[in-house]
Amino acid sequence: MSGAYVHGYQPRESERLHDQAGTLVKLLHSDTSYVPGSVVLEAGCGTGAQTITLARNSPGARITSVDISADSLEEAKARADAAGLTNVQFRQADIFALPFNPGSFDHVFVCFVLEHLSRPSEALLRLKDLLKPGGTITVIEGDHGSAYFHPDNAAARQAIACLVELQRMSGGNAMIGRQLHPLLFHAGFDAVYVWPRIVYVDSSRPDLVDGFTRKTFTAMVEGVRDRAIDAGLLDAETFDKGIRALYQTAEPDGVFCYTFFKALGEKARADPLR
Ligand SMILES: C[S@@+](CC[C@H](N)C(=O)[O-])C[C@H]1O[C@@H](n2cnc3c(N)ncnc32)[C@H](O)[C@@H]1O
Repeated sequence: MSGAYVHGYQPRESERLHDQAGTLVKLLHSDTSYVPGSVVLEAGCGTGAQTITLARNSPGARITSVDISADSLEEAKARADAAGLTNVQFRQADIFALPFNPGSFDHVFVCFVLEHLSRPSEALLRLKDLLKPGGTITVIEGDHGSAYFHPDNAAARQAIACLVELQRMSGGNAMIGRQLHPLLFHAGFDAVYVWPRIVYVDSSRPDLVDGFTRKTFTAMVEGVRDRAIDAGLLDAETFDKGIRALYQTAEPDGVFCYTFFKALGEKARADPLR
């Protein structure tokens, strides 16, 4: 990861990732499960927000979840223990220097990580090396350019743009979701397929209004308020107006839409790039 991780490692961010994971389990994970005996690597597990679902959906798989942050791993381990999971082990490691032999895994799972890396293509190549021939990679990423809402509001769009810019300044790309197909294709994966997963929220879906519009998306933008203002990206008044407008989209007349992208690729049995 280059620069600072844009969302930080504060407890509130961990809570946000878990709210997001809980809200989106069905949309993002209902079609991810690994057959018993599979050996799976979760790269960039953070505080374990996706790990719990991954391990529950595939009780017979052996999952190794790695992250660069020791504190996040400690929290992830506590959550996995509290959930009674016995098929996951955690390890501190950098995606660019993973301590595993080539061909160690049947599957790799990456969620909301490539967007924070300055070299996502290189990360994919490294992860591909760790797959057995015929193994698969699943990548899930968001794309902040896909957010649109009612009532529309220029200040809200400016506040979102601050987050995109801060992430860019940290070396990441908050709009990477739309690039998953070319990224996986150019990393040499076969049979690459991308499914857009649209979150559509209106007042008839109160769980999503609270879990996604308020506690996931708006909380994420709100979380960079001080850094955006300090960096001179927007004045405080406009930023706060934008946040109020985002909360307004969670009111009874509001609507919020966002698209996640879920990609699957396979490592060729004879890999042309190895
Ligand atoms: C947005 S969090 C996502 C965590 C988890 N996958 C989830 O969906 O909740 C991104 C995670 O990637 C980790 N990360 C960033 N760069 C990394 C690297 N080079 N190696 C390993 N982990 C990294 C961060 O520490 C952070 O926990």
